[in-house]
Amino acid sequence: MIVLIANEAGSGETRVAATPETVKKMIGVGLEVQVEAGAGGHAFFSDAEFTEAGASVEPASAERRRAADLLLKVGPLGTHDDLGSEIALLKSGAVVIGFLDPFLNLDSVRALAAGSITALPMELIPRITRAQSMDALSSQASIAGYKAVLLAASRLPRYFPLLMTAAGTIRPAKVVIMGAGVAGLQAIATAKRLGALVEVSDIRPAAKEQVESLGGRFIDLPEMETGEGAGGYAREMGEEFLRRQREILTEHVAAAHVIITTAAVPGKPAPKLLSADMVRRMKPGGVIVDLAAERGGNCELTRAGEEVIEAGVTILGPLNVAGTMPRDASALYSRNVLELVKELVDDGTVRIDRENDVVGPTLVTHAGEVVNPTAVALLEKEGR
Ligand code: NAI
Repeated sequence: MIVLIANEAGSGETRVAATPETVKKMIGVGLEVQVEAGAGGHAFFSDAEFTEAGASVEPASAERRRAADLLLKVGPLGTHDDLGSEIALLKSGAVVIGFLDPFLNLDSVRALAAGSITALPMELIPRITRAQSMDALSSQASIAGYKAVLLAASRLPRYFPLLMTAAGTIRPAKVVIMGAGVAGLQAIATAKRLGALVEVSDIRPAAKEQVESLGGRFIDLPEMETGEGAGGYAREMGEEFLRRQREILTEHVAAAHVIITTAAVPGKPAPKLLSADMVRRMKPGGVIVDLAAERGGNCELTRAGEEVIEAGVTILGPLNVAGTMPRDASALYSRNVLELVKELVDDGTVRIDRENDVVGPTLVTHAGEVVNPTAVALLEKEGR
């Protein structure tokens, strides 16, 4: 069976879905691995290293795409600069793995089903203990949380730590982190390591203990209902809840030098936690890094992929933050993908077992059908 590693540089992706380390392991389970030349270039994995690991490396071609039994990607399926529609290039029965973003790419989902292609979006790996090694959302969110703090520190016109010097004392920076999921917890740890005072807001009661164990101060939301939803995620809160939450956060925001926002609710737009008025009350020179920019932003003033300055406060809305650290992001992502591939391979052959507790919930299309209930419902809603 042939596994093909896509070169995604044309779509602006810096990461790669396999590394020489994971290539060797895939060969070890009986797969033949092909790599599109230059696939690891931005992540500093050379074609020579892939060849040495046992892969066959050649420029991307329609023939190779059509021959692949398993296509490994980072980003969603789209239009390849030279080869055209990536879905049209796949053969019937092929399997594709990547951050396919199925619910925002319903046309792709329909085309994948029509082409009898099996799609396994990494976003849908269930968050169960057994699947932790495949949890690519977590591995990439953790990088984003770390990098967000470094972005803020590099833009802040002051130190993070407390410093006592011959020239006087520097007070530590105050950092407020909104959302204490995977990215937020890594942001807390990173800001603490840099010596900042860290305050944190989340709506899941379970987050409080995690925040405190990292040395952060949890901002209580007194007499407010809790936001714990299904599967340990947050649920969508009403506008009245968010208005009161913003009210409680206002004084913390006004005292902060840095704000990192990571708040998200699965399948919904990011909750608005920072109004323009709250931003204007911050000290000039303050920095906001909005990691929810891709989902509409937690700050009212965020513009995805851009930098906004309002009343002396810099608001960054970076996209694909994990992709700014492509070497480690690829190393971790490719191990997540490898573990999923190992779930599929039996005796050198790729088999889709819908009863498998990881594979079943991850499938979106299989054997000519859309099999994910959310995708089915969304397609029905659109009358298709
Ligand atoms: P996420 O990216 O969906 O959300 C980020 C954070 O935003 C969450 O902590 C959420 O509670 C918070 N949030 C939502 N609305 C908010 C609001 N109005 N104000 C403040 N914060 C708000 O979540 P992520 O990072 O993907 O993980 C969420 C949960 O899943 C966590 O409980 C985490 O521990 C758990 N998890 C479990 C795993 C496992 O069991 N294998 C693996 C990874 C995460």
